Amino acid sequence: MTRFDPSGPLRGWLRPPSDKSISHRAALIAAMGEGEIEITGFLDAADTRSTLAAVEALGAGVRTGTGSRSVAVSMGPEWDGPPPTADTQDLGLVIAIRGVGLRGPRPAQIDVGNAGTLLRLLPGWLAGQEGGEWTLDGDESIRRRPVDRIVAPLRRMGANLHAREERLPPLHVEGTALHGAVYEMPIASAQVKSCLLFAGLLAGGQTRVVEPLPSRDHTERMLAAAGAAIDRDGDAVVIRPAERLEPIAFSVPADISSAAFFLVAALLVGGSDLVLVDIGVNPTRTGVLAILERMGAKIERLMEHEVGGEPIALLRVRSLQRDRGSAPLRGTEVGGAEIPLAIDELPLVALAACFAEGTTVIRDAEELRRKESDRIETVTAALRALGGRVEPTEDGMVIEGSGGLRGGSIDSHGDHRIAMLGAVAGLASREGVEVHGMEAAAVSYPGFEADLAALIGR
Ligand code: S3P
Repeated sequence: MTRFDPSGPLRGWLRPPSDKSISHRAALIAAMGEGEIEITGFLDAADTRSTLAAVEALGAGVRTGTGSRSVAVSMGPEWDGPPPTADTQDLGLVIAIRGVGLRGPRPAQIDVGNAGTLLRLLPGWLAGQEGGEWTLDGDESIRRRPVDRIVAPLRRMGANLHAREERLPPLHVEGTALHGAVYEMPIASAQVKSCLLFAGLLAGGQTRVVEPLPSRDHTERMLAAAGAAIDRDGDAVVIRPAERLEPIAFSVPADISSAAFFLVAALLVGGSDLVLVDIGVNPTRTGVLAILERMGAKIERLMEHEVGGEPIALLRVRSLQRDRGSAPLRGTEVGGAEIPLAIDELPLVALAACFAEGTTVIRDAEELRRKESDRIETVTAALRALGGRVEPTEDGMVIEGSGGLRGGSIDSHGDHRIAMLGAVAGLASREGVEVHGMEAAAVSYPGFEADLAALIGR
């Protein structure tokens, strides 16, 4: 059990850990290449270590096993300005991966740990390897994550896969020749899209993946940079098979999904002034900024530039309230196209909504039920335990702003984002929050508690 007491302001600057989505993809695409590829700022966390172990099991060489972690620098009460340095590219450690080539992965048993992204992306690459066999399995939470969403479309491309009860891991892949297909995804999922794009690299003919709504597009950007024939055509992404991928270096920005915990903490804890540097602000990831701004937050975006095909910015956020408990945030409605752009940050929107005036409605977000935990249930349970007024719905939540949260005790249910949500709630609460299962944070953010402590000057 870890306790998070009501805190003084968060002041200083933070380079959050590197982007989890981009790190997974960088390791996989590097493994598909030939020769050695450098990845700067590869996320050093449990989830992405699973991906490094997976590519090693497939025959790729990983030269250094460590990647980049976050850096937090506390500033005194007199501080009033930009960070000591804005160029933090050099904070990211470099790892090197020697690829096995697009058609070279060797048979293996893959332990994906807790990584849903690895579980969904990797089979796309393996399904088209004639003659090879692989099994993917993971922890208790992974065994509840559906894989039928990739099995069905991959089968349409000719793939041979077997899942437990047709929909759950372990997932067995028998590589075979694939053919291109047109697939209209019933749900907006970057994981499903990416899986099919990887399969399309090896399929005969063209593969066309139609998205009901735009979802994160890192895979498209990275495959294009590696020389794949990939194009957007309206609401579809079209890919043609490739002989090989070009060896290119990757650079991973900080993860906006990790930054979001600090954004919300700084908004809710009076007197805070936080600068978040090197943040990936790809427009398919910034839904949380738009939602918080609509609720009344002022988030400055400074020094926007592009590194390795991804837009990056420095974000400055200051608290809206001087006295804890009465933030001038307003309730809002979140649904439709905004959901995939903010999917992992919706728990934080629900937390902020407890501090807002009026009602917040989150709808069209049934996918939350299929994340590391059923996040409609786990967020509702956590916020209610702290005094929040939250009603779960089939596809979201209705939150009545209650002028803050009392505090209490919550369980992370092994979900990294619920653990960190509890910590932020504790700092902004009246009585503090005890989090059971705080260690889950290490899945995406190993230094989370230390960074929080540094920024509140503890
Ligand atoms: C991810 C996509 C999202 C997101 C997950 C990471 C990715 O899942 O929730 O944390 O890296 O592609 P879906 O694409 O299944 O919605």
